[in-house]
Amino acid sequence: MDLLPLPSASTPAGGFLGLPHGAVVSGPAELVDAVRLALAVLDPRPGEGGTITVEPDASLGAESYVLDVTDGGVRIAAGDRAGAFYAGQTLRQLLPAAAFRAVAATGASWSVPLGRVRDAPRFSWRGVHLDVARHFMPKREVFRMVDIMAAHKLNRLHLHLVDDQGWRVESLRHPRLHEVGAHRPRTITSYYREEPTFDEVPHGGYYTLEDLAEIGAYARARAVTVVPEIDVPGHASAILAAYPEFDARATGGRRPEPFTVLDRWGISPAILSPLPETVDFLTGVIEEITGALGETPYVHIGGDECVLDDWAASPEIVAFQAELGLGSVSDLHAWFLRRLADALAERGSRAVVWDEAFVSGRLRPDTIVMPWRGQGVARRAAAAGHDVVQTPVFPLYFDYAEASSEEEPVAIGDAITVSDVAAFVPAPESWTDGEREHVLGAQFQLWSERLPDGRAVDYRAWPRGCALAEVAWSGSAGNGFDARLETHLGRLDALGVEYRPLTGPRPWQLGGAGHRRHRPGAVKVDEVMKHLEEMTHEADSTRPSM
Ligand code: ACM
Repeated sequence: MDLLPLPSASTPAGGFLGLPHGAVVSGPAELVDAVRLALAVLDPRPGEGGTITVEPDASLGAESYVLDVTDGGVRIAAGDRAGAFYAGQTLRQLLPAAAFRAVAATGASWSVPLGRVRDAPRFSWRGVHLDVARHFMPKREVFRMVDIMAAHKLNRLHLHLVDDQGWRVESLRHPRLHEVGAHRPRTITSYYREEPTFDEVPHGGYYTLEDLAEIGAYARARAVTVVPEIDVPGHASAILAAYPEFDARATGGRRPEPFTVLDRWGISPAILSPLPETVDFLTGVIEEITGALGETPYVHIGGDECVLDDWAASPEIVAFQAELGLGSVSDLHAWFLRRLADALAERGSRAVVWDEAFVSGRLRPDTIVMPWRGQGVARRAAAAGHDVVQTPVFPLYFDYAEASSEEEPVAIGDAITVSDVAAFVPAPESWTDGEREHVLGAQFQLWSERLPDGRAVDYRAWPRGCALAEVAWSGSAGNGFDARLETHLGRLDALGVEYRPLTGPRPWQLGGAGHRRHRPGAVKVDEVMKHLEEMTHEADSTRPSM
């Protein structure tokens, strides 16, 4: 049946069922809508006595379904709306690849192999992280990503909405965020350790609150939950360009030279002050974002790569730390994120953080940790009782190239292959059962320093994303993954995804000698990983007890 991700069980029965264009779908309206959305190319109609019937089945879990294709028609039993949607997605994969086109060819008729698929996800968090801060992705790219995710049963879209290089949402309460923070005059084109060169091309963009509402609704209809990230207190150049009064250096009435929206990559020293007015400011902005998105069960608050020097240098911040009875600025970092997480909890959202926030201790117990610096810190977070979403640089940072080769377009480093992703085990056997139970799932990261647009995103996301989808849905890359992937790429062709072919880039995807030139071997992912793992050990040994 060549399904991807591999379902829990499938039994082909031999023979085919013809499905007419405009086939009727019957059942409760909410489930019918989900099936129709997944199979839009068939233009299915709601009605009585349909060729396709869908019904709820309380014995099935969340996102689960049973799909029966017999001579008499298609019967779907679904644990919930998402289960009905995924049954529709599986049915679409059972059709020829043309079912992944936007419209059917005139006179198209469809046939589905007879059989039964019984399916449930191994992990509840099957995520894609998209950095729309370094390079803004217009909302059409977000919708497209949601569509491609839905075809892979991926269900969390983590939008990295702010970084030093840009702020990407409208704020009515603090309009300078989008007026000043959402654009930069130019972007660096040189690589690490090269003489800096710039493109001198303005870059920017932001989502209006109405756009966010549209994105939230579009995603929800396709069983995708948007996880907005406001990365604080570091990575703050764009926020501080807009509102310099929240600069840690501006405490005590000082007026330092304000930061500007950054035009280059790397870790910047720009950091927000942790004082109560900053917490109020951020809580207000996050309220605007979640208010627009609609139901937002998770909000990511960052916490990564903070340079705390400006906190240590501010008498007001040090006095505030002492007032709170905290022993160090890293304790204050933890306190600050906890204050934000408490404010989110009051509004019904769980906080998500990068692993630095765990290492500095004192998180709310219900805070979800994204360990990007390796399995050591991932396991410690799970052992400490935090739910964990696996996001390790290796093999889930897809801004690394697939190969260490001159042929690749420029990447942050290399190399992470489809096989590396397919071999990833989110909940390793070597962990205790208790630790494994805290693994919610896994997510691939598309940091966009070297991903200027949707075409570049397509190339880096797929087919490695297909492997992650299988790992997260099925628990591991299952039987015949490579052969199924070959068939599946025909679906992506029909969908118009400009993925990286398994044999390497197409002629027009080569790096070339211009601004897209790759520097193979300049940054090696295994060396990066080793360095990051060492950092988490050092931090851990000096960590205050929780
Ligand atoms: C990260 O890569 N700074 C989470």
